[in-house]
Amino acid sequence: MKEKLEKIKTEALQKIQECNALEGLNEVRVNYLGKKGELTAVLKGLKDVAAEERPKVGQMVNETREAIEEVLNSAIQKLEKAALEEKMKAEVIDVTLPSNKIRMGHRHPNFIALEEVERIFVGLGYEVVEGPEIERDYYNFEALNIPADHPAKDEQDTFYINGDILLRTQTSSVQVHELEKGKLPIRILAPGRVFRADEVDATHSPSFHQFEGLVVDKNITFSDLKGTLDQFAKEIFGEDTKCKFRPHHFPFTEPSAEMDVSCFKCGGKGCRFCKGSGWIEILGCGMVHPHVLEMSDIDPKVYTGFAFGVGLERISLLKYEIDDMRLLYENDDRFLKQF
Ligand code: DAH
Repeated sequence: MKEKLEKIKTEALQKIQECNALEGLNEVRVNYLGKKGELTAVLKGLKDVAAEERPKVGQMVNETREAIEEVLNSAIQKLEKAALEEKMKAEVIDVTLPSNKIRMGHRHPNFIALEEVERIFVGLGYEVVEGPEIERDYYNFEALNIPADHPAKDEQDTFYINGDILLRTQTSSVQVHELEKGKLPIRILAPGRVFRADEVDATHSPSFHQFEGLVVDKNITFSDLKGTLDQFAKEIFGEDTKCKFRPHHFPFTEPSAEMDVSCFKCGGKGCRFCKGSGWIEILGCGMVHPHVLEMSDIDPKVYTGFAFGVGLERISLLKYEIDDMRLLYENDDRFLKQF
């Protein structure tokens, strides 16, 4: 019996020594110490041993069990410790390394400029409205008093989808949508994207943005237009900004004008920024043409109004002194993060 136990022990210890994974050690535990293991089998056989021998054999079995258990446990501990050390090594953090920079998105200069424009006009009591980018000829041209043979209607200037469906070339189309609602008075600001068949260069893009203003009420005069746009210019370009209105022609306004602001870079003395003139052209405006009101069933003898249209890019390029419009569309992070 003694030799048998010795043999079991030697064998078990040998197996333990050969093991280099926890699963293997577990197997040894099951095979030698488990319910169906070899030592248990010996214990079960005790009933065949002579009664006076039993305590001695029992003790021997226990000693063998303890010896195997001890070696097994220390082998398990050793493996566990090694695994832990391995894990710690893998997870080591060098706290002296520079951290990853968290990169933040930036608001687009157009967007910042538009927000300021909206703030100014909402402050003056305007409502911000939007209109469709895909329009009928009627809204983009006809109802704005733009005749069928007007050069703007040429395919070289306008993107046609088919027949009289087109991409709007101006936010002035939103004027018509508001006028035909017939809800007076009207005081709206309509920002949005417009499209023209232009080649891309430093000052042109086939898709850019405008904002349109329209006021219609009783007793609206050219002074109201001047006062409003003067206030706008001062708020957006600075208190000292002066405005100049030059006669111009637009089919949907009569009289029409273009507005220049005194150069905010040189104060009007003339510099590279304003090409030496001291003035910078900003927008088109005028008194709503009686014909435009009539076409939307508004009586021009009772109501008058003014309108203006501004290129949003023009404002953001000037305000942030950007000299190439293409920068606004390239989404270059190095450019955008300056704002
Ligand atoms: N729609 C014109 C354009 O795109 C700008 C404009 C001029 C709008 C005069 C107006 C206006 O409302 O009164 O060039």
